[in-house]
Parts: sequence; structure tokens; C-alpha cells
Amino acid sequence: MTDCTVLVLAAGTGSRINNSLPKQYIPLNGKTVLRRTVEIFLSHPHITTVHVVISKEHKTFYRNAIVGLDLPSPIYGGDTRQQSALKGLTHLWKKQPKYVLIHDAARPFVDHKLIDRVLNKLVTCKAAIPGIRLADTLKRVHSEGRSVTFTMDRKDFWCIQTPQGFHYQEIHAAHADFANEEVSDDAAIAERAGLEIAVVDGNEQNFKITTDNDVEHAKKLLSNDHPETRIGSGFDVHPFREGDHLFLCGVKIDHDKALKGHSDADVAIHALTDALLGGMGLGDIGTHFPSEEDRWKGANSKIFLEKAKHLLLERGAKIGNIDITIICETPKINPHRERMTSSLATTLDIDSSRINIKATTTEKLGFLGRGEGIAVQASATIYIK
Ligand code: CTP
Ligand code: MG
Repeated sequence: MTDCTVLVLAAGTGSRINNSLPKQYIPLNGKTVLRRTVEIFLSHPHITTVHVVISKEHKTFYRNAIVGLDLPSPIYGGDTRQQSALKGLTHLWKKQPKYVLIHDAARPFVDHKLIDRVLNKLVTCKAAIPGIRLADTLKRVHSEGRSVTFTMDRKDFWCIQTPQGFHYQEIHAAHADFANEEVSDDAAIAERAGLEIAVVDGNEQNFKITTDNDVEHAKKLLSNDHPETRIGSGFDVHPFREGDHLFLCGVKIDHDKALKGHSDADVAIHALTDALLGGMGLGDIGTHFPSEEDRWKGANSKIFLEKAKHLLLERGAKIGNIDITIICETPKINPHRERMTSSLATTLDIDSSRINIKATTTEKLGFLGRGEGIAVQASATIYIK
């Protein structure tokens, strides 16, 4: 099957979860809920494109969550799930895919077999949705007094999940026609439009992360994944210019020359930031702070390191150790080594025992030997769960 586009709805705020991050951006073992969800669809052989519908307020979270994934620009959603779905569908109008799957970003455990069941059913039906039979007895309970008023016959009741699959034109028209009626899923819109909706087998694991308990449950499911150790390396060189001080590892050092560069030219922090970004697979300093942008001119390089720290935190990743080699004839590094170590430890919020700074010369050989600048090499180990 071809020509199937997926809309991943991720514009909600996750208000039922007590976390500073919207639930789709919470890291589960180092990878956000949204990234986990998107990766499953991207790796499915019959899906042409994955579009993510996000909130404008979450642009930065989004950018960080999807680094390295091949996705078109995000679509901005609305105040309700229903509005977000309609905005997503309307965005696809020009492209007119044959089939569309609409999926909650908050269901990161969807699997290819379930997606296949929905897709296969779409060949003969206009709408197909995954569902699971109710396992528990279903009772109507009076909300105020918490007293039972009725026991339902559960055999006719199913819990419905996503991805919900539709023929694009029909679901787009239905969503537009019934935009004023409040519903909680896309199949309810299809029902209003009189489309026949087939139910295929969902699965228990494809639950929607809705409450704090669900976040804990999701983490437990993944807890058998051992942290992965990654190594990152960085290298940077800055030439000397006239001046009377320079910065290394965030420490100001009086010297008869300064370092030339776009920012404050802290060559050690630049190499270290690259090592941390490299270890996480997130490109390099230039990816996150383009040097053609004037706002980084003369910037305190600690902001680069803080950004790397923030990205580590977002992925639930931790630094194992850092090893830095500063290569220059002058200045002498030894007298400043302790201050440099504690400056980096403070910025990265790690124990200074995890940081090693050493220095060497090139025995007067080459540009470093001629005292034309300073080079720094940095390595870091990172644990990502
Ligand atoms: N969603 C959306 N746009 C909205 C509201 C929800 O795209 N305005 C998305 C959510 O990001 C989520 C999915 O729809 O992936 C299912 O909605 P729900 O579980 O209700 O998520 P939230 O609305 O974020 O959570 P809550 O209702 O607890 O605030
Ligand atoms: Mg909601």
C-alpha cells in the first residue's frame, strides 16, 4: 500500500500530568515520548510521510526532540485535539493523500503490526480503528455519591485507541462539517458523517500516557533497556590576537595576547561543547548557534555549554567523565587548572572529579609551536537510557 500520510497529534499541554514538560516531551529512558512515537511511523515501510501537529509554544521542545529525523515542518495545532486534527487534515489538502492515519503522540508503544491491521482494513473500508475489549466489569456510577446505578453488558464495549485510519477526503470533509460538535476522537466525527467504521485488534501496550501513573508505567516497561554509553569528541583552534587576557574553560586568564573568535573565543568550552553534542548525536556548536548570527558576537561561551547541559537533561542523559587536552606554548595552564575544573563543574552541574584537564605543547613544532594560537581536544562519555 502506498500514499498513506500520518498525522501525529502533539499540540496538547498534558494538563493531567504533574511535570514541567508537556507529556509528549517527557524523556522515557533518554528519548522523548514524541520521538519514540514518530520513529515507529517513520520506520514503517508503507508510510509515505509523517507530519507532526504541535503547539507554537513548544517549538523549542519540538526542535530538540526530533533532531536528525527526516520530517517536514511541523503544523501548528489548535486549542482542542479536534481542532488540531482538523488543522492537520487541512494542511494536507494540497497533497491529497489517499489514506491518513491520525495518531496521539502520547501513545509511544504503538507497533508495526497494529499499524498494518489498520492499513489493511482501509483497503475495503473508509475508516478503521484499533480497539480492545473491556476486561473489567462496566458499571454506571453516580458521580456525586459514588453509588452504582447500573451494570452494563460489557461484551459490546470496546476501548478505542489510535492510530485511526481513514480515506483522506472523507475524514477531511467530515471534520470540517462537524467542527462545531465536540468529540474526543476522529472516529466519532466519522460516525457523525455516517461512515462505516471497522474495528481491528488494538493492544494493551498501546495505551495513552495520560496520568503520572502512566508515565511511571511507561518507564517501567522500558527499564530493562540498560543505559548506553556514548563517546563524544571535540576539537577546536583559535588564533591569538592583540590583547591582555583570554578565556579558557570559562576562566579569565591574564596574558600578553587574547584569542580571536566570533564569541569570547573560549576554545576549551567550544571543544567540550562539541564533544557533548557529538556524544548525543546532535551535530555540533554550529548546528545550534550559527556563527553568522550576530547575537553570538562576543558571547560568553558558557551559554554553549549550558545549552548542551539542557539537551542532556532533556534526554535523561548523564555525563560519565570529561577529559580535556589544551595544546599551546603559552599561557601556562597548571596555575589555572583547578579554577578551570571547578568552573566547568559548576556550569555542567557535575562533580569536579568527573573532569580532567591537562595541557601539552607541540615542542615548538607547527602553528601551535610558533605560538600562533591555542588548540583544545575534548572527549566525554555520556550515558543515555
Ligand atoms: N492534542 C493536540 N492538540 C490539542 C490537545 C491534544 O494535538 N489541543 C494531542 C495531545 O498532544 C495528545 C493527543 O492529542 O498526543 C491526545 O490528547 P490528550 O491525551 O487529551 O492530551 P493532552 O490534551 O495534552 O492532555 P490533557 O487532556 O491531560 O491536558
Ligand atoms: Mg486533552
